[in-house]
Amino acid sequence: MQNIYSSRPHAAITAIGGYVPQGRRTNFDLEQVCDTSDEWIVKRTGIKERRILEQGLATSDMAVMAIQDLCTRYAKDIADVDAIIVATSTPDVLMPATANIIARKLGLKNVWAFDMNAACSGFLYALDMGASLVETERYKNVLIVGADNISAFVDIHDRSTNILFGDGAGVIWLEPSAEAGVMDAFMQSNGDGREFLNIEGGGSLYPTSQETPDDERRYLRQDGKVVFKQAVQSMSNACKHILDRNQLGIEQVNWLVPHQANKRIIDAVGKEINIQEEKTLTNIAYRGNTIAATIPLCIWENIKLIQKGDLLMLTAFGAGFSWGASLLRWMI
Ligand code: UT7
Repeated sequence: MQNIYSSRPHAAITAIGGYVPQGRRTNFDLEQVCDTSDEWIVKRTGIKERRILEQGLATSDMAVMAIQDLCTRYAKDIADVDAIIVATSTPDVLMPATANIIARKLGLKNVWAFDMNAACSGFLYALDMGASLVETERYKNVLIVGADNISAFVDIHDRSTNILFGDGAGVIWLEPSAEAGVMDAFMQSNGDGREFLNIEGGGSLYPTSQETPDDERRYLRQDGKVVFKQAVQSMSNACKHILDRNQLGIEQVNWLVPHQANKRIIDAVGKEINIQEEKTLTNIAYRGNTIAATIPLCIWENIKLIQKGDLLMLTAFGAGFSWGASLLRWMI
């Protein structure tokens, strides 16, 4: 197996943590607010329930819980962190960055902290960026957080979105390693996707104001069919690209960790890249789509299955459109 970055210093994941809120939104809850059914949702999405963050809390609160979970499980000292990249589309506030808010809550005074908005692909984008920072040898301990409080932007009466989304946070710790942990990554985007998946309100084009408290642009909207098709195609192509340029056969991959948006999308990608079904990790049934948190949360919740040395293929697709795939050697 050839690693195209073999001449550089390497980055590896050395710890992982996660957090989901206590509040549950079941399919039966949704039957009470719109014309849907548990049977339809399970059949068309594979989702049974999602976790919902209580009002008054925000993305940073879940991220801090996930980081604390990581530190406890892996005996990591938060004071060692040099940089925090937070992948989120649902920042606590527009300014400052949620990464700064998290750093403050953790008591980190001089850390380099910034946000990355690449919607559902955010974690993979941030992972690639974080690995690159470690590879420069300028940063040793880098936290990559994927966290979204997307329920704050879901129209509870819109059955084309309320069935899919839930809240959560996942985090990994990157540090230098003799062997490549983050082996390869391939990220792309196409701005033509804007119309099909967006939250248009609350930015500088459509700022929230007292005159528009009920502006429906504050909600997430999507054309599910277009997104579905693009997601399958883009994630499959990204995985195939990574396999090809690393001269790997799919049988050498131990685990596929796809973005958890819809079980039918996950199954279609698996079929397209020809991976055995039992090698695909999921947690969608009880979490739904947690945007930037899906991939770290899915690994975190399936951690007992993953062995040191396993090869993982991660892939994501989201608003933008943005998408990508990453290849990891699991080192813990
Ligand atoms: O991270 C990326 C985020 N977004 C996504 O990944 C979304 C990808 N898209 C999807 O997951 C799917 O397109 C949805 C789950 C959103 C919708 O599933 P679908 O299989 O594409 O359904 P559809 O929109 O084609 O609707 C099929 C039927 C329609 O009825 P008729 O016209 O056949 O009588 C809809 O009116 O199902 C109906 N329908 C529903 N029925 C019950 C649509 N949504 C619902 C619902 N409950 N929630």
